Amino acid sequence: MRCPSSSFLRRGTFIVALLWFCSAFAAALENPGNLNLIPVPSKIAVTEGKFRITEDLAIGAIGEAGARSKKAAARFMERLAGRTGLFFKQDYLAELGPSGSSSFLFKYETPGQLEPFEDESYALTVSPDRILLIAKTDLGVLHGFETILQLMDVDSQGYFIPCLQIDDTPRFAWRGLLIDVARHFMPVDVIKRNLDGMAAVKLNILHWHLTDDQGFRLECKIFPRLHQFGSDGLYYSQDQVRDVIAYAADRGIRVMPEFDIPGHSTSWLVAYPALASAPGPFKIERKWGVFDPVFNPTDENTYRFFDLFFEEMASLFPDGYIHIGGDENNGKQWDSNLEIQQFKKAHNLLDNHALQAYFNGRIQAILAKYGKKMVGWDEIFQPGLPKDIVIQSWRGRQALIDSAQRGYQGILSSGYYIDLCQPAAYHYLNDPISDEVPLKDEEKKLILGGEATMWSELVTQETIDSRIWPRTAAIAERLWSPASVQDVDDMYRRLDAIAVRLEELGLTHFKNQEMMLRRLAGSADIGPLRTILEVIEPLKQYKRHDQGLTYTELSPLTRIVDAALPESKAARLFRKMTDEFLRTNDRKIADALKTQLQRWRANHQLLRPLIKSSPVLSEIEPLSQDLYTVADIGIQALDAILAKTAGDRAWVNESRAACELAKKSKGHAELALIPAVEKLVQATLSR
Ligand code: ACM
Repeated sequence: MRCPSSSFLRRGTFIVALLWFCSAFAAALENPGNLNLIPVPSKIAVTEGKFRITEDLAIGAIGEAGARSKKAAARFMERLAGRTGLFFKQDYLAELGPSGSSSFLFKYETPGQLEPFEDESYALTVSPDRILLIAKTDLGVLHGFETILQLMDVDSQGYFIPCLQIDDTPRFAWRGLLIDVARHFMPVDVIKRNLDGMAAVKLNILHWHLTDDQGFRLECKIFPRLHQFGSDGLYYSQDQVRDVIAYAADRGIRVMPEFDIPGHSTSWLVAYPALASAPGPFKIERKWGVFDPVFNPTDENTYRFFDLFFEEMASLFPDGYIHIGGDENNGKQWDSNLEIQQFKKAHNLLDNHALQAYFNGRIQAILAKYGKKMVGWDEIFQPGLPKDIVIQSWRGRQALIDSAQRGYQGILSSGYYIDLCQPAAYHYLNDPISDEVPLKDEEKKLILGGEATMWSELVTQETIDSRIWPRTAAIAERLWSPASVQDVDDMYRRLDAIAVRLEELGLTHFKNQEMMLRRLAGSADIGPLRTILEVIEPLKQYKRHDQGLTYTELSPLTRIVDAALPESKAARLFRKMTDEFLRTNDRKIADALKTQLQRWRANHQLLRPLIKSSPVLSEIEPLSQDLYTVADIGIQALDAILAKTAGDRAWVNESRAACELAKKSKGHAELALIPAVEKLVQATLSR
């Protein structure tokens, strides 16, 4: 905000000015919680006034600025111009302007290293005529840029940044997103736009799950058969890998590769069957699950192979950590191999866990030789391994606790499996170090943070963004903001705002849905499909796999269930409004609920012709029928509550039974409004 100019006051419009000033002052005292920041900064004080964004906005550095901060400044200006339509005068792609004349100044001391515990803090001061961003490293500057972009707001006079002071630093050093490119390959563009999304919410590590039973997804020079035979031609060249790493580094994000061994390795063994624990040949796996092929941990050729392999990968990936997977080895091939059994006896390895620990130890020594620390899923945990390894807990929080109590570092992913289509609130309240975690302070320090995991069995490049965003922003907040930041309603308010802003980065979480609906309808007439989709969510957990249809790598993921977002906003708001109505009995809320239900009920008739003309939609006919039924029940319940008629038990029982039937999955999806309608039905009894 610029202060009211004297000429403005001189024009005699004092009253208007006073009113305007008062409203500006009131805004200045607004609860910082009304800002759309995600993650919430560690310290924030809103002050008076607004910094107006005009075409004169210019960024300047105080002292030296390296390439990373300059490129980030250019992206910052581009995004701001994109939103505001302003033709900024500064030639921001060239050298940054002289600092004295710039209205936005930044400064940092040293280039940040891309490693855990690097200083990512920043201090931001916005006053009416200047923005000042100070950080220890350029990583902090990058975070500050994102904060300012989130702070951008609008009023009747245009765009502005509210005046404030922020001192911000992350709670956890390791804030990651895993993207599985093995189950469904994700082209470089998908990775890049998600890196932009990660940077926007201050995540700092991409965990790139590059190999699994279904694919070996990067070029290997020393063993080219790996990508030639293990990928169906869908792999990244090493130039592409370097490009992604550089793109991530420009955004302050580490890239940690995962090479999942000794199990989850069919695609490798297609190329090198002699390294398996059972005779080949092997075929690239098309299905999802846990499979038998596993490296032979007793064969020295295995270690010669991995020595050369990791030597190459250690130089390709600059990050200090390499993830070796280590999960879900079912041990069947080990059990049926006589030589492996003899090896176990000879080496006093009592079970397959001990044998895998032996394998892990050998692999860890290879990684250490090439200057890398080992990360693995919680199955790799075995006291005796060096203390610089990192355990990634996925089967439950206990693994994190156990390993921390024995002095090992850990990261949490249990509770952050975003492929399971759980609500954002579920992930949000999953704290790596909750109050119940029975750890001493020193042990708590070993918990480095967490990672959202985007497993790709049921996503393609078309749908993956909608599974990652915006819910991952809620996880990003959990990993960055103080533990006390827990207000779920406020998180949803900010998540709704960031969800829209993330689109400017090319993320497709909303826009692809429309395209998918047009494809399903075979036309641009998708209104009724859009309406039913408002209240549909995909089945949670792994339930989609239990519906009598076997999903494979080749299955189309183009149905309504795939177009549906993991968490229906309309249903969430409907549930909230229902609770509010039942608490207050407010007639206006009841009317709004009823209007909504009438719309959903009426949709069935509108949708039917579309379903008839597009056979791919036939599976949603019963879902649409259910929406009709449930909406109708909701309307009747509201009428009964408002009329204060005594509860009709027979009707309640009938309605409950109908809701139960409607809960049975159709089209691998569920209607997310049913719990709210059930509450309305129940409430008819107590009025
Ligand atoms: C895993 O989800 N198997 C790590």
